[in-house]
Amino acid sequence: MTDNRPEHPDSGSLPDKLSSPRPSDQASGPGNTRESGVSSGSHTNSSSGTDLYTAGHGDGQRHGDQPAQAAAHAPPAPLSERDAKIAERKVASLFLLAVIGVISFIVTFFAQEQEFGQPGNVYFTPLLGVFMAMALGGVGAGAVLWAKLLMVDEEAVQERHPFGSKPDERAATAKALKQGLADTGLPRRKLLRNTLLLGAGSLALLPLPFVGFLGRFQHKERVLGTTSWVEGVRLIRQNGTPVKLGDLQIGGVESVFPDVFHGTIAADSPALLIRMRPEELRLEGEQQDWAYQGHVVYSSICTHLGCPVKLYEQQTHYLLCPCHQSIFDASTGAEVIFGPAARALPQLAISVDDEGYFIAEGDFAEPIGPSYWERGT
Ligand code: FES
Repeated sequence: MTDNRPEHPDSGSLPDKLSSPRPSDQASGPGNTRESGVSSGSHTNSSSGTDLYTAGHGDGQRHGDQPAQAAAHAPPAPLSERDAKIAERKVASLFLLAVIGVISFIVTFFAQEQEFGQPGNVYFTPLLGVFMAMALGGVGAGAVLWAKLLMVDEEAVQERHPFGSKPDERAATAKALKQGLADTGLPRRKLLRNTLLLGAGSLALLPLPFVGFLGRFQHKERVLGTTSWVEGVRLIRQNGTPVKLGDLQIGGVESVFPDVFHGTIAADSPALLIRMRPEELRLEGEQQDWAYQGHVVYSSICTHLGCPVKLYEQQTHYLLCPCHQSIFDASTGAEVIFGPAARALPQLAISVDDEGYFIAEGDFAEPIGPSYWERGT
């Protein structure tokens, strides 16, 4: 099949283009810029669509023959040997920063004991983020700086051409790649090469903590079955003040949390303290002992899908979950009277300490939140 496309004035085989002299070799301009395609001063801009063959265009007609509009590329002046050394050290420092980031990440991860459901170091996660940013940013910034300061400033435009390279083109490409490697300076800049290998290689260690993390909480059957509520801990409000007997009017309701480290932000511990007339409470069995003078506390995490149950209707004692409209009756142990929830909100046993503040008698008697397989409730 014959290619009838007209000869492009700038066209030519890839080897020809690859072997075209560098501008630095030409008398036309200074710097170390190289053009491996067509010369920047006269060729049309491929990205503007003025110099491309249309794919599938049978007659090979080209679109447009506007004059060249490509902006002239002004290469920076080549660095002196001394400046190149300084630049090399800067890049090496960034690669070493990446190494420090990786090591710090791993040390931080393993040095901090983390027990699921227990208070932890608030700086743990931010530190991991900072060190990971150092690791990734160090390699990334080093690579950018290296390319900007030490590599050959090259502007190349490659035209579209038929798929499939000829042997001589492949050979020319290999030659160009070798030349590119030489242009990076890696073969002769040992410090740069070694620190790059060290920095990039150390990134491979980053996933190690996550691998170690797998299975860390295996066989901790009660992890999802316990909360931060423990015996004797006071009931506090969101602002940290403890709730005293008498603080709530009849018909009142208060969001309460355990007075422990991170108690107000522990996802499994929010609860509702509700006061009603003692005679309005219709609890059965041991649940009667879990209430205190008309006060009852229920987990405020819906047993359907875990939404916060915060809407309380004073007259009916109904607690409403806004997500799927499950309704729980607070006077009867928060049993479900409507909606998709399958079980009652767990009740917290409470009493009052010597100073008259509400305290928990222990954790919830059953796991809070949505029911799921393997849990049994
Ligand atoms: S999450 Fe409460 S009803 Fe669905």
